[in-house]
Amino acid sequence: MVTVFGLGFVGLTTALGFAHLGYEVFGVDVDENRKTLLKNGKLPFLEPHMEDILKTHINRDFFVADDVKEAIKKSEYVFYCVGTPYGENGAADLKYLFSAIDSTIDAADDDKFRVLVVKSTVPPSTTSEKVLPYVLSKKRISQKFGIANNPEFLREGHCWKDFIEADRIVIGCNDENSKDMLLNLYKPLGVPIIPVSHSTAEFIKYLSNTLLATLISYSNEMAQIADAIGGIDIAKAFRVLHMDKRWGDCGMRAYAYPGCGYGGYCLPKDTCALYSQSIQKGFTPQILKNVIETNANVAKTVAKKICKNISRDKTIGILGLSFKPESDDVRDTPAAKIIRELNALGYKNICAYDPVAMDEFKAKYADIDLEYCKDAKTVYDKSEVIAIVTAWEEFKAAAGFGEKIIVDCRYML
Ligand SMILES: NC(=O)c1ccc[n+]([C@@H]2O[C@H](COP(=O)([O-])OP(=O)(O)OC[C@H]3O[C@@H](n4cnc5c(N)ncnc54)[C@H](O)[C@@H]3O)[C@@H](O)[C@H]2O)c1
Repeated sequence: MVTVFGLGFVGLTTALGFAHLGYEVFGVDVDENRKTLLKNGKLPFLEPHMEDILKTHINRDFFVADDVKEAIKKSEYVFYCVGTPYGENGAADLKYLFSAIDSTIDAADDDKFRVLVVKSTVPPSTTSEKVLPYVLSKKRISQKFGIANNPEFLREGHCWKDFIEADRIVIGCNDENSKDMLLNLYKPLGVPIIPVSHSTAEFIKYLSNTLLATLISYSNEMAQIADAIGGIDIAKAFRVLHMDKRWGDCGMRAYAYPGCGYGGYCLPKDTCALYSQSIQKGFTPQILKNVIETNANVAKTVAKKICKNISRDKTIGILGLSFKPESDDVRDTPAAKIIRELNALGYKNICAYDPVAMDEFKAKYADIDLEYCKDAKTVYDKSEVIAIVTAWEEFKAAAGFGEKIIVDCRYML
């Protein structure tokens, strides 16, 4: 049996994934509203296909636990999928992780062996230097825990497929018992499972995310160079770059494309966390430093491009508020940064539309003064200039709305 702490994108997918594989799964969350929604078969966020999968498993083999003690008592596996947001100096904040570990240690009142698995993204050396000593210092003599980590590579919008058809499962272990248990747990998936050391597993996750961030910052800088030189069809240039057979048919080329800078929950905080961790360990990474700086400046560049040649009393229309299409996630979304930059430049009349993320944006950025519109055409009609900030497919239609200037910040038209 499995207990999963944190029922967000990663935790809910993990919990339902294990239920799908035939295990009995308990889900624990501190957010009561989220728990109530899940118990009623409703998703607390937008994720294709997931609500149907939830409805299949809820109260059959996936249970949203009110009694953590009962869940831990029955479980051999405890997964931590809680948030690891920005902490001090860009380091990962581990307070949610330690709080979930505390709940586990409080609840385990027998001598059963349990493997505690950190699935949250944590910087290399966290498991061996922080989690393991913490558990050893807190645990009672009778308690038996193995400590492992198991980084998650899923993408929002593709959570289920990325879990069920994972291209690799990485497990970081330092004891044979935990390793064997995790190999057995994941075996039914029939995908490659790679056991490595704690820190190697953590590092593999950051290798992946920082490479994606680097590709994005590289692309944005190249677009800025092209803009400065002038006379260059930037979208075409990148599309031709993608025709190089060495890209194969992989999705990586989507990251080698300019836009509004990387956003969302993971790339910004993970890039900063690895940079911060490396400095703490005595090495200052130059490439990552510039990747972060380049990304921080994209909103400024994009905002200047949007308001070029229009007076401050005119209305600017923003199409797209989520950090990427097919998602209502507005965490670290470029739209918020761009709107703030426009405000700082003196442009206060801004209207916006997003197919799914307007409520989330309103709630998260209550300090941003925006007129929310019912559709893209209304934004177009009200505005002097219109900027496409999120690459929703439906915004392609904006090109046919009329003669107004459309700043295609996503190079999608
Ligand atoms: N979102 C992604 O695409 C993605 C992909 C790979 C890895 N990750 C990593 O996985 C982790 C979780 O990300 P997410 O997007 O699922 O986060 P999320 O914010 O969607 O979900 C986290 C959940 O943890 C709950 N929580 C917080 N403290 C808790 C506690 N003590 N006990 C129980 N529940 C608690 C929150 O209420 C929330 O529901 C992060 O470390 C993230 O970096 C995320």
